[in-house]
Amino acid sequence: MHRSHTCGELRLENSGTTVTLSGWIQKARDLGGMTFVDLRDRYGKTQLVFNMETNADLCHQARKLGREFVIKVSGNVIERESKNLKNPTGEIEIDVETLEILNPSKTPPFTIEDETDGGEDLRMKYRYLDLRRDPVQRNIILRHRVGMETRKYLDSVGFIDVETPYLIKSTPEGARDFVVPSRMNPGQFYALPQSPQTFKQLLMVSGFDRYYQIVKCFRDEDLRADRQPEFTQIDCEMAFVEQEDILNTFEGMVRHLFQVVLNVEIEDFPRMDYDDAMRLYGSDKPDVRFGMEFVNMCDVAQGKGFGVFDSAETVLGIVVPGGAAYTRKQLDQLTDWVKRPQIGAKGLIYCRVNEDGTTKSSVDKFFDEDALSVWAEKTVAGKGDLILVLSGGIDKTQKQLGELRLHLGEEMGLRDPKVFKPLWVMDFPLLEWDEETDRYHAMHHPFTSPKPDQLALIDTDPGKVKANAYDMVINGVEIGGGSIRIHDRELQARMFDLLGFSEEEAEAQFGFLMNAFQYGAPPHGGLALGFDRLCSMFGGSDSIRDFIAFPKNNSGRDVMIDAPSSIHDEQYSELELKSTFNPNK
Ligand code: AMO
Repeated sequence: MHRSHTCGELRLENSGTTVTLSGWIQKARDLGGMTFVDLRDRYGKTQLVFNMETNADLCHQARKLGREFVIKVSGNVIERESKNLKNPTGEIEIDVETLEILNPSKTPPFTIEDETDGGEDLRMKYRYLDLRRDPVQRNIILRHRVGMETRKYLDSVGFIDVETPYLIKSTPEGARDFVVPSRMNPGQFYALPQSPQTFKQLLMVSGFDRYYQIVKCFRDEDLRADRQPEFTQIDCEMAFVEQEDILNTFEGMVRHLFQVVLNVEIEDFPRMDYDDAMRLYGSDKPDVRFGMEFVNMCDVAQGKGFGVFDSAETVLGIVVPGGAAYTRKQLDQLTDWVKRPQIGAKGLIYCRVNEDGTTKSSVDKFFDEDALSVWAEKTVAGKGDLILVLSGGIDKTQKQLGELRLHLGEEMGLRDPKVFKPLWVMDFPLLEWDEETDRYHAMHHPFTSPKPDQLALIDTDPGKVKANAYDMVINGVEIGGGSIRIHDRELQARMFDLLGFSEEEAEAQFGFLMNAFQYGAPPHGGLALGFDRLCSMFGGSDSIRDFIAFPKNNSGRDVMIDAPSSIHDEQYSELELKSTFNPNK
C-alpha cells in the first residue's frame, strides 16, 4: 500500500493512529535532535518528524533527503507542540517509523513554492514542475470544476455533447488557419477548426436541437494575455429558438457557474446596444464596474477658435472624480501615456474644476472661465473633478479615450477582480468595411443573420445593417459571442455575395452547408464562450495561460517539448512537400 491517507487529510482526531503517506518533499529542516520534513501531494502538506533520540538511523537517512524526492513513510499521528493553524493539517505531525525513497530527484531548477524564484521561461520549460506549485494546481483544479459544472448544467437542460472533427476544411472566421498536409491526398491540406461553427449548424439540420461541446479551437493569430493559438470553447447551438431564448439560457448557465464555483450571486445581466457601448465607453466590450462614461463635447468645444477641436470629427470628454488634485506632473504623465504609439493620441486636454468652483485648463487661451463652466455643466463635473478631453476621428478618438478610461480605472482601483459585472452587448453591425482589402467583412462570421426588419437595407446600405448577434462581456473581457444564424439558402448566398465570394467560390467552400439548408434547416442560433477566459476570470487573473496545463508562449511555442520543430526528410517526401526551409532540399 502506498498510502492510507493523503497529505491533506489528517487532523487532531486522527492522533494515535498509524498511517502511511506518500508524496514529494517540499522542504526539510534539521534542528539538531529532530529533523522536520514537509511532505506534499495534491491534497496538502503534512509535517513529518524524525527523532534522533528514538531512531538515529532513520534520522540520518532523513537528513539525506532532498527537495522533491518522492518518499513513502509510515508512522504515528501525534499532536504538534507548536501548531500551525494556517495549514489544515497543522495541528498534527507524523512520528516516522519507516521511510522508503520511491524516487530521488535532482535539485529542481526553481523553488516549488507559492512565490517561486523561477522566471516565466524556466517555468514553462519545466511546466510539469510548475504544475506542482499550489497556485497553479488550484487554477487547473478550478478549470476542472468549471468544466464539470458546465457539463452538468447543460446536460440538465437537455444539451447533447457531440464531438466534431479536428481535421476539416478552412472556415473563414477572421484568423488564419493552421493547416495539416494530407499524406493520402498529396498536395491537399486539412485545416484545424477555428471553431466548430458549420458542424454545429449541420447538427441542427440533423435535428439534435441542443448541442454543446467543450472543444479545442485553433487560430493562427497574434498572441496576447487572453489569446492562445489553441484554446477551448464552450460551444453551443440551439434550434427553434429566438435570440431571447439563447440569452436567457446562457445567462442562466453563467449565473449558475458563478454561484456554484465562486459563491457569487450575479444580480443584473444588463443589455447594451453596440452603438451605445462605442458611444459611451469606446469599446464593444466595456468594463462597467465603474462609470466615467464619455460625454460628447462637440457643441461646447467647437467653434471657439481652437483649431485642434474645430478640425476634429469629434470631441469627447470624461470626468475623473477627484481628479482636480492631480499635479502637473501627473497630468504630463497621462499626456505621455496617451501619446504612446500603442494609444496614438496627439495630445490630451484637461480642465480642472477646483474646489472653489473656478476652473483651470490647458486651453485657457481659447476657453474663458464661462466657457469652461459650460464644459463642467455638460460633463456633470463637480468641484474637485477633472475633465479630460480627446479629439479627432470618431473611431480613433473613441478607442483612445476608451483605453485612457481603463487605464484611469485601473490606477484608481476601480477594477476590483472580485467584483463581477457581466452584460450583453447586442445588435452588432452585420458587416464592417475593410480599408485594406476594400470590401466588407462579416463582423461576427458569414453565417450570422441580419435583423429581419433590416433585410431591405442589405441592397441599399449594407454597412448599416445590424445583426442578430450578441457578445457576453464580463469586466471588460469578451467572454463569449454568438448569433442567430441564416437558415435560408438564398439569404446565405446573398451574404457570400456581399462578402465578395463569387458563386463558384461560395459553392466550393460552403456548398455542403447551403445544400443542407435545402433539406429542412430549422431556425437556429447559438454562442461560444471562451472557456479559458471564463476560468481565468473566475481565478481573478488576466492571463489565460495560468489556467491551461500546457500553454504556448507569446511566440506560439511550447518550450517544454520544443514545438513547432522541423520534420524529417522522409516526412517531406511522404507528404510530397518541398520546403524552402528544409536545408536538405
Ligand atoms: P468567437 O470567434 O467570438 O465566436 O469566439 C468565441 C469566444 O472564444 C474566445 N476566444 C479565444 N480565447 C482564447 N484564445 C483565442 N485565440 C480566442 N479566440 C476567441 C473568446 C470568444 O468570445 N463560432 C463562433 C461562436 C458562435 O457564433 O456561436 C465563434 O467562434 O472568449
